[in-house]
Amino acid sequence: MNPLTDLLQTRLAEGPVPAAEVMALGLYHPEHGYYRRSEGPWGFAGKDYYTALDLGPLLGQTIALRLEAAWERLGRPAVFTALEPGAGRGWLGRDVLNAVTGPFAEALVYIHRDDNPAARRAAEDALAPFLTANRARFAAENEPLEPFTGAIFSNEFFDALPAQPWRWDGGQWTREVLTAAGPQWQAADPGEAGAWFAAQTDGLEPRDGSIWCEGLPGLIHELAAPLQAGLFLAVDYGEPASRLLAKGADLRRFKAHSVDGNWHEDLGEADLTVDVDFTRLAALLQGEGLSDLSHLELSKWIRTHAPLDQWGAGWMALPAPERMKRTENLLQLTLPDMMGSRFRVLEGWKG
Ligand SMILES: C[S@@+](CC[C@H](N)C(=O)[O-])C[C@H]1O[C@@H](n2cnc3c(N)ncnc32)[C@H](O)[C@@H]1O
Repeated sequence: MNPLTDLLQTRLAEGPVPAAEVMALGLYHPEHGYYRRSEGPWGFAGKDYYTALDLGPLLGQTIALRLEAAWERLGRPAVFTALEPGAGRGWLGRDVLNAVTGPFAEALVYIHRDDNPAARRAAEDALAPFLTANRARFAAENEPLEPFTGAIFSNEFFDALPAQPWRWDGGQWTREVLTAAGPQWQAADPGEAGAWFAAQTDGLEPRDGSIWCEGLPGLIHELAAPLQAGLFLAVDYGEPASRLLAKGADLRRFKAHSVDGNWHEDLGEADLTVDVDFTRLAALLQGEGLSDLSHLELSKWIRTHAPLDQWGAGWMALPAPERMKRTENLLQLTLPDMMGSRFRVLEGWKG
């Protein structure tokens, strides 16, 4: 029997369990959680899901340009620290480090922050040459961050944080819970979440709803406070708060490249994920002293910041299979039905 199912049964005997608690157990139980198991089903290509990094280096190359622009804006400091929370296999860090050249490459120090043990092993391989050259290092999630100048960037980090689905039933707020009889929506006091949701719409309609990540303010503070000056950049899937509310955001399970709403099944053996509320993310960052906050669809962000004409000309000189791969990578990141409009990029500035 799955050890997390056992644990959950014990917990259910005491009463309904909020979906956010089930998500926290399934992903982050210290031994059996999907992102905390040392071996197991956790995975990307060929396993449960893939991210933009499995598609090629273009996301990392574009982020490298944004980091270099931030370094210029900061007046070219001798050390530019780029912290990546939820860094997983370290592929984004590797792609960024591979893309940078010249004086910026000399200034850039990359920090991988993610306690996922299976991902950490993959990251040790992916980052090996940069670790040896002291251009990259690891930081544990509970390691206090020293003040630094540079950037914080992430990909699909905020969507992996435990969050609670809420729904307006026309007269009151209900939250999704697991009971011994299965998932149910039960009336509950949404507290701060209710005030936030109400402020994002002109009027709630039955079945409007969204997700609420209780731990987000603490985490944003933990990350943003040590950033003395520089860029905050987050790539994730999600929407502005008003659109999430109208859509009725939910909790999803990814397993073997298919997605469904059976979030309470296969705990520890399937990925659980939610849309990110970009309006709230931006508001929390503003509260931490960041300004110039904006977020836009990934396709638009790529078209705004990647020198596609220049890259396209360079790709023409590559052997056909490599050229095809780059073109496919670009299409996956920019076509609306693929990642182009489902993902957004938030940028903010401190200092
Ligand atoms: C969906 S995965 C994304 C991995 C990687 N960024 C990618 O795109 O391939 C989310 C990762 O966030 C990590 N994570 C969750 N909470 C974290 C925290 N508080 N600090 C750092 N990493 C965390 C998990 O361990 C997991 O590896």
